Amino acid sequence: MKVLSVVGARPQLVKLAAVAAAVDGTAHEHVIVHTGQHYDLRMSDVFFTGLGIPDPDVHLGVGSGNHGAQTGAILAGIEPVIEEQRPDWVLVYGDTNSTLAGTLAAVKLHVPVAHLEAGLRSFNRRMPEEHNRVLTDHAADMLLAPTETAAAHLAREGLAERTVVVGDVMVDVCHRVRDAVLAGDHPAPELPAGIDPASPYLVATLHRPDNTDDPEVLRGLVDALAALPVPVALLAHPRLRARAEQHGIDLRAGALHPGEPLPYGDLVAAVLGSRGVVTDSGGLQKEAFLLGRPCTTLRTETEWVETVEAGWNVLVARPDREDPTWWAQTATREAPTDPRPTPYGTGDAGARTIAALEAHHG
Ligand code: UD1
Repeated sequence: MKVLSVVGARPQLVKLAAVAAAVDGTAHEHVIVHTGQHYDLRMSDVFFTGLGIPDPDVHLGVGSGNHGAQTGAILAGIEPVIEEQRPDWVLVYGDTNSTLAGTLAAVKLHVPVAHLEAGLRSFNRRMPEEHNRVLTDHAADMLLAPTETAAAHLAREGLAERTVVVGDVMVDVCHRVRDAVLAGDHPAPELPAGIDPASPYLVATLHRPDNTDDPEVLRGLVDALAALPVPVALLAHPRLRARAEQHGIDLRAGALHPGEPLPYGDLVAAVLGSRGVVTDSGGLQKEAFLLGRPCTTLRTETEWVETVEAGWNVLVARPDREDPTWWAQTATREAPTDPRPTPYGTGDAGARTIAALEAHHG
């Protein structure tokens, strides 16, 4: 069986690591196509080296652009690659513009497409990721769902027959890296200047257009983070840096200590060393949960509802509009003491993904 993986943005590289590890040691052929949606060293290359992923076989180098231009460039770039490779499966990951473009290119060439992390819904149609998820799920031939909640969303949309629940591949990678960090096999993470790893600190990230692109919203979020009573390691995505600079917002205010995005192992080590996480990232909400750190999510909704239901995640869309004492207490709260449930599976989702592709191949 020949599988062609389409990746391009940082969270997809983490998911790819689980799939690449599961293919390793089988007779299957795995072709990796990197669209180039993320191109900075710290947004892309360090994930390949750090997570032991084989180098991409094809790099499309599309780079940044508006949604139409970026999605269109990937679509045009990937079509001849799929035509030439003729894989048994095109495997697309998550919800980025690379996911949608890879899916469209494949279905139009009548090559079967499997969507990993299918069925997630925020029900927020302002999010570009929500369009990508819905359109990808309805076009793909097999829907690999991470959770029962995701499978239920697909069933409601009439897609139950194409759905297989395989668990969440991010658990495979997160647990593997956590174990290496806890065993002392990973060097101390490069935290932003001013963060003392021996004292309590929070890990924060902010990158969603809804949070970064409106100067009033961004200023409110930065002020709320700067006002927290413990130092905040802000791992700044390039979009955040660009918008902050554009709007004259200083990320070096109060409790805030901005630094670069971290390679995956460093991120896991940084979260394990922290008191908690404040983020608008989907992946980091779940990583905080898997690593046993409370998360505060800077959004009105989340796709990862299980983290909220289990008491590990609290949604606060506009902390600057909340009571400051409540906000400070919420962001620095202790972790719940109840045993953590395992809604995302136990770390075998990569193997279950390959098994599902094998079972439905040919
Ligand atoms: C994309 C995904 C989002 C995912 C995120 C992870 C879509 C619609 N969104 O958002 O779901 O959570 O990746 O990080 O696909 N930039 C750089 N260097 C890079 C990458 C980006 O400077 O290596 C800057 C560029 O100015 C670019 C902006 O960041 O315009 C946004 O990048 P883009 O990939 O379009 O979207 P993300 O916000 O990263």
